[in-house]
Amino acid sequence: MTYKTTRYALLLASGLMINTTTWADDGSLYMLVGTCFSCHGYNGSSLGPTTPTIAGLDNDTFVQIMTEYKDGERPSTIMGRIAKGYTGKDFQRMAEYFAKQPFVRYPQLVNTAKVKKGAILHEKYCERCHQDNGYTDYQASGILAGQWMPYLQLSLADFQINARNMPRKMKIQIRKMIKGNGEESINDIVHFYGSQTRTDVDDD
Ligand code: HEC
Ligand code: HEC
Repeated sequence: MTYKTTRYALLLASGLMINTTTWADDGSLYMLVGTCFSCHGYNGSSLGPTTPTIAGLDNDTFVQIMTEYKDGERPSTIMGRIAKGYTGKDFQRMAEYFAKQPFVRYPQLVNTAKVKKGAILHEKYCERCHQDNGYTDYQASGILAGQWMPYLQLSLADFQINARNMPRKMKIQIRKMIKGNGEESINDIVHFYGSQTRTDVDDD
């Protein structure tokens, strides 16, 4: 008898079959996503400041990001190496899990004047994609509202130095924003996103 069938027979005999199977399924899911908690926080809401919260991303966005890390198409300090350890099917399972978790937002230290300026800039240059003040992951644009400010700064810097590709239309808007409002506008807009602390409502 192989190990597998022995185990099966033992489980049947002990009457633990159903329970154990259920546990095994959850167990492997938790082993998969539990690895991420050490950096991204419990259930994907990070305690910051340079590790992003990953809870609440749409399935497709999540899988796309992980695949880009794995293929080396998206710059990273560590995620490239981590993503290489998983298959596309793993990404799908993780995506389904994290999509259901609430994005927990913590208060961040913001400058009120910058937040005000940032709100106007957001409306003018970013809202059409980062909808609902950045709370919505619309067309795989990620969630910006309440994301950790140092992480947003790093992401925007990666875009600025062309280390990370940004959508062409976003590039045009960022360029316009800086041209009309100076380099400081990047900082203003980060303060605006950092100021958002609305709690996720159960909308599904
Ligand atoms: C050692 C810490 C660490 C671990 C463990 C880790 N991450 Fe990350 N993750 C990061 C950092 C830091 C970034 C920012 C990109 C970079 O520099 O690598 C990131 C970025 C991401 C992003 C991009 C989020 C966004 O909105 O841009 C996703 C998605 C992600 N990680 C998923 C995962 C998943 C899934 C796991 C578990 C399999 C995981 N991470 C494990 C540190 C970690
Ligand atoms: C045409 C749509 C569009 C517009 C306009 C746009 N974005 Fe984006 N943005 C995206 C998409 C799509 C992504 C995801 C890109 C990727 O990860 O490859 C993104 C990603 C980002 C990220 C990175 C998030 C992360 O998790 O790393 C930041 C920060 C950001 N945008 C800020 C802005 C700001 C600020 C503006 C306005 C000045 C803006 N965007 C305008 C579509 C847009």
